[in-house]
Amino acid sequence: MAEKTDTPSIAVLGSINMDLVATTDRRPVPGETVLGTGFAMVPGGKGSNQAIAAQRAGGAVQFLGAVGDDVFAAELRRALTDSSVGVEQLRTVDGPSGVAAIVVDGGGENSIIVVGGANTRMTELTEADLAVIAAADILLCQLEIPLDTVAAAARHARANGTTVLLNPSPVQHVPAELWANVDVAVVNSGEAEQLGADLDPVAHVVVTRGADGAVYRGRDGEQLSQPSPRVEVVDTTGAGDTFTGALAAAWHRGPEWALTWAGTAGALATTKLGASTSIPSEEEISAALTTK
Ligand code: RIB
Repeated sequence: MAEKTDTPSIAVLGSINMDLVATTDRRPVPGETVLGTGFAMVPGGKGSNQAIAAQRAGGAVQFLGAVGDDVFAAELRRALTDSSVGVEQLRTVDGPSGVAAIVVDGGGENSIIVVGGANTRMTELTEADLAVIAAADILLCQLEIPLDTVAAAARHARANGTTVLLNPSPVQHVPAELWANVDVAVVNSGEAEQLGADLDPVAHVVVTRGADGAVYRGRDGEQLSQPSPRVEVVDTTGAGDTFTGALAAAWHRGPEWALTWAGTAGALATTKLGASTSIPSEEEISAALTTK
């Protein structure tokens, strides 16, 4: 295994949600009611999950986002600080925090509805946000906050030599101006299909394929394929976020190592229920790699 040489500074700009998770043997079809087997409230949100994953996987992370002034806010903030993610740029706005209604079936597959709440209020970046982005090695974003804010952050990152990783999820149309400022795109196979040729100008594209692992293509035509370790799947929620955060933390070691590190982290995240609660530590990822 490659030795860790340094700690990349990573600014994660994105969402933070309280996940309301119902487990059931089978997800209902439209119009149907099914009985559940359990319920949990777990801090989540693609931004927060990726921030925690990047920090636990070896990065030094600052989170840029917003919670509301409701009962969920303190626990959402604590989920970040418990994992030593910097929250100086986490703002509190009037109204509800983001929430996600999640149904997980017996096979560990999920369906998710996100109601943005405070995340939708991330319409502007403060001077302090911009300074964090400019000083970071990596800016990591998703699409659960307003697209214009992500575009402004990527523009500022590019102007200041900060590498931009974009996980364009939930998938939507991304303007060419934003793609032009993205160095690394991380997408699942469905997103890759939907985005198609939009991904062509991006220098580095990583496609996750669930249990089939991940593939990488570089601008110079370099291709890599990384199988996924075999694990007992309990819940896939947050596995993609864990992969993406760990990839950001390992990116400075090159795509091959980053794919190995992230693939192991993502697989481990499927072995426990919940998003932030299933994200492995650096030690757990290392141990899984050495026992492989
Ligand atoms: O990617 C999983 C996440 O998507 C959940 O934690 C949920 O909050 C939604 O943002």
